[in-house]
Amino acid sequence: MRAISLGLLSTLSMASSLIASPLAAQQASDAMAPERATGVATAERAEAKTFMVAAANPLAAAAGRDVLARGGNAIDAMVAVQSVLGLVEPQSSGLGGGAFLVYYDASSGKVTTFDGRETAPMEATPKLFLDDQGQPLKFMDAVVGGRSVGTPGTVKLLHEVHSKLGKAEWAGLFDPAIKLASEGFEVSPRLATLVAAEGDRLKTYEGTTGYFFDDAGAPLQAGNVLKNEDYAQTLRTIAAGGANAFYEGAIAEAIVKTVREAEGNPGVLSLADLANYRIKEREAVCLTYRALDVCGMGPPSSGAAAVGQILGILENFDLRNLGPRNPESWRLIGDAQRLAFADRERYLADTDFVPAPIKGLLAKEYLSGRASLLDTKKALSKDAVTAGEPTWDHALLFGEGDAIELPSTSHFVIVDAQGNVVSMTTTIENGFGSRLMTNGFLLNNELTDFSFKTHADGIPVANRVEPGKRPRSSMSPTIVMKDGKPLLAVGSPGGSQIIGYVAQALVAYIDWQMPVEEIVAMPHLINRFGTYDLEAGTWAEEMAEPLQSLGYEVKVGEMNSGLHAIELTPSGLLGSADPRREGVALGE
Ligand code: GLY
Repeated sequence: MRAISLGLLSTLSMASSLIASPLAAQQASDAMAPERATGVATAERAEAKTFMVAAANPLAAAAGRDVLARGGNAIDAMVAVQSVLGLVEPQSSGLGGGAFLVYYDASSGKVTTFDGRETAPMEATPKLFLDDQGQPLKFMDAVVGGRSVGTPGTVKLLHEVHSKLGKAEWAGLFDPAIKLASEGFEVSPRLATLVAAEGDRLKTYEGTTGYFFDDAGAPLQAGNVLKNEDYAQTLRTIAAGGANAFYEGAIAEAIVKTVREAEGNPGVLSLADLANYRIKEREAVCLTYRALDVCGMGPPSSGAAAVGQILGILENFDLRNLGPRNPESWRLIGDAQRLAFADRERYLADTDFVPAPIKGLLAKEYLSGRASLLDTKKALSKDAVTAGEPTWDHALLFGEGDAIELPSTSHFVIVDAQGNVVSMTTTIENGFGSRLMTNGFLLNNELTDFSFKTHADGIPVANRVEPGKRPRSSMSPTIVMKDGKPLLAVGSPGGSQIIGYVAQALVAYIDWQMPVEEIVAMPHLINRFGTYDLEAGTWAEEMAEPLQSLGYEVKVGEMNSGLHAIELTPSGLLGSADPRREGVALGE
């Protein structure tokens, strides 16, 4: 499609001279050279001297790049990227959703995080997703409609972080998205495919049907020029009035009406929920892995804790010598993931509501104890994969939850001329969220990231629904630090597979010395709950037989990551976008 090839061309034309990764230069050898994916197209590498954006759509990346080229900083570019993504990739993220931002501030030299996660309405109860008999609803029955809609956080995150750290004038940052929305943009092949795949489900509500289908009921086609005047108008309102113009007044009223009047499955979101919504700045959760600090998002995301646990277990093994195309590496990685997921299911939830032993879960002694479980030649048996007993300052029993998280979401990374770094994962949860649309944007279904069941064997589940609580996430926006300076920013969409995608990219970068364009394209092998998911059409399939011999059940299929990464080297920036999606890295 024209828009995309233009985006790629401009990436290439901006390329400056080749810059080697210092880590790669330092340690890579021919013997260690990683194999390229066979079924997944290899990714482009963008190179730049001063600033860069890597995002899931070329129009969004270009909007961010242009802000940086005019002297804006990474936070300014974040506003432009997100506002365009909400238009051109509406199924993944937007004004009706939530986001986590991991931010390196060059002036203070610190990594911090901002939590723009949705909250459960104050009228919600732990029984939100139980039927009249007290049984959990079917997942998609819960998703589609108003019941799953949490208080959106993205607009407030953009506005508050921009007020604190932005440089450019707020209103102007929406110009690219407003122009695209009013004049029209070309529907991308991915959006068209996903609309067609959704079919009748996306026709549940009239407002949504009218946007994604024509009068005869046919879905949008790739290359169609789509206008969204409602979205343009919403952005003009936010540009002029800031976040308050979204959380109060006509837009807030329309959101609440859409949720509460959703036919067949109404929700309980209220004007008070919107008016009282708050962004939270939280300390980054960091783990030292092979002398690098891997920093990410703590609760309500399970991302940094789970990625940190996987790495902390793997640090006890010589993955570098084992290499990427070795079943023994994947036995260790797969079972480290399973152990981390067992802890995650029991312990991790919104710590404003329930305590969580984050320090204990990431303690080196605890993780070496967990690693010793892998001193075997076979896959861990199901019974051996249970939550551990980290040290913590609370004695509180939690039961295992049952949150189902399907692949969706978007991730982008930005580095500006001052060296500030944005690593942001942003979502409306399921593809097309709750399928409810108002004012030109889709509303999230984030509340289905809570456990539907409230108790397990009479013991409360940490991630149960509670009024005002934020559902547990898997989103893992990450910044890797070396000697106090940022080295790599990376993250991915993909539901609960996000944790595996990001952990694998970090192992590929740190242990296997792969450059950015290979860590985003590498075949995926992920094990969360015992079944090994192997990416179809790639060399991951070669691992099926050896992994089965080790005792794993394997499943070969499509794996829908959307990794975006930027490496900061002494001589410039190297960035890449996952070839499985439509993204691009652009810089100068
Ligand atoms: N809804 C995707 C996530 O938060 O992990």
